[in-house]
Amino acid sequence: MNQMAVEEAEKRCVVLVPSPFQGHITPMLQLASMLHAKGFSIVINHSELNPPDSSKHPEFTFLPLKDGLSNGDPSLLNLLNIIPAMNKNCRVPFQDYLVQMMEKPELYGQICCIIYDHLMYFITEVADHLELPTILLRSSSCAYMEAICAFLQFQAEKFTPLPEAKLLDPVPKIPALRFKDLPFALTSEIPEPLLQLLEKVTKIGSSVAIIGNTTENLENRALLWLRQHYQVPIFTIGPLHKMASSLQTSLAEEDASCISWLDTQATNSVLYVSLGSIVVMDKKELIETAWGLFNSNQPFLWVVRQSSIDGSTSIEHDLPDGYLEAVGDRGRIVKWAPQKEVLAHRAVGGFWSHCGWNSTLESIVEGVPMICRPCFGDQNVNARYITHVWKVGLQIGSDDLTRCVIESTIRKLMVEEEGKELRQRVVDMKQELQMSFQDGGSSHNSLKSLTEFISSF
Ligand code: UDX
Repeated sequence: MNQMAVEEAEKRCVVLVPSPFQGHITPMLQLASMLHAKGFSIVINHSELNPPDSSKHPEFTFLPLKDGLSNGDPSLLNLLNIIPAMNKNCRVPFQDYLVQMMEKPELYGQICCIIYDHLMYFITEVADHLELPTILLRSSSCAYMEAICAFLQFQAEKFTPLPEAKLLDPVPKIPALRFKDLPFALTSEIPEPLLQLLEKVTKIGSSVAIIGNTTENLENRALLWLRQHYQVPIFTIGPLHKMASSLQTSLAEEDASCISWLDTQATNSVLYVSLGSIVVMDKKELIETAWGLFNSNQPFLWVVRQSSIDGSTSIEHDLPDGYLEAVGDRGRIVKWAPQKEVLAHRAVGGFWSHCGWNSTLESIVEGVPMICRPCFGDQNVNARYITHVWKVGLQIGSDDLTRCVIESTIRKLMVEEEGKELRQRVVDMKQELQMSFQDGGSSHNSLKSLTEFISSF
């Protein structure tokens, strides 16, 4: 063994298991980086589907789990197949790796615990079998966990299907949410595979703690619920992208040319538009969004992923004839942007977002107000918090996606009085959040406690 390998082997090892989606891989790698900086050696056990780029993280050991799933963009339509298959297929390879690692601690160090993403729920059974402690990483908001549990409770009590007229009523014990904002519709029969999946992702088995990519202030009420419900220590160490050293976590190649374009734009003038890594829109929505952006007269930076338009072969082909020429230098369309850098840029004054949890945190922490266009699951809950609890964004409903409504919503956010108020509030939130990840702040202290907790195993 060379000197570096010897040093690694003397450390204690944390095994981390992300699920194969950008919004889940990113926080897991950020957590890995923070624990590495605290002196642990890091093993990432990842699926073969959507693997992280190991060449960007030479300080970690990457061990692929044979998942038997062909590589491709996991669209919403087959998530319900992918997740159970992943949990079934990865079990044996994961156990085999752990046994090898336990037999040869000189390779990676002695395993002190396993940290897993909530979608990889098979982990606790394997760990129980080998008597290893596990910690759950919540890569979505804590409010979402509370909302799923409420949703499942209604199911169990046979409250469903809910009459349309009750959709605007508040959810008992969660005053921030209406029935309409729960992660899934209560008005029709819920497919059994979805129910089974939700049951599994809300259980923590024998896990000894939960890590949240959040802060005490941001989710104070939901955290109270979480602590009471699960009765294990909860470490709130978010926003992870600010707590971790700058880290390359993108699965797709970032188009950095948009940063020099942003440099030429006036302060707070640009609307950044991105619906994350999974959401798919139809061609009608693409056209209405394109005209809404054009008619708003605001500069815009729009991320349209290759696979994000249903049935499309190329965005250039799907946009109206002459559209790009008409937009000229007022807009940029890219396939994938360096989002954190974009949101931190002084020219960006608004974010049209699907309200994935990472995007939500990244926007608030840079003081950028949002237009919320949630599509599924946790995004509905996050959007409600953004618009009605923190009051730092406007919501646009799926029935409102016409060019006229899009144009007027953009103008409301970017130039009108209402937008100025939202911007002021999100700037206040930014300052509050910044305190949490500075020396002595709540996330900073919580990371210290987490490190001591893991070291105690
Ligand atoms: C998924 C779910 O859809 C989301 O609801 C859940 O909260 C997390 O898992 P995703 O849809 O990808 O995530 O959204 P989000 O959580 O916002 O994560 C997207 C990540 O990709 C962000 O960290 C963002 O910075 C990054 N990104 C997105 C880029 O780096 N470039 C882009 O062009 C777009």
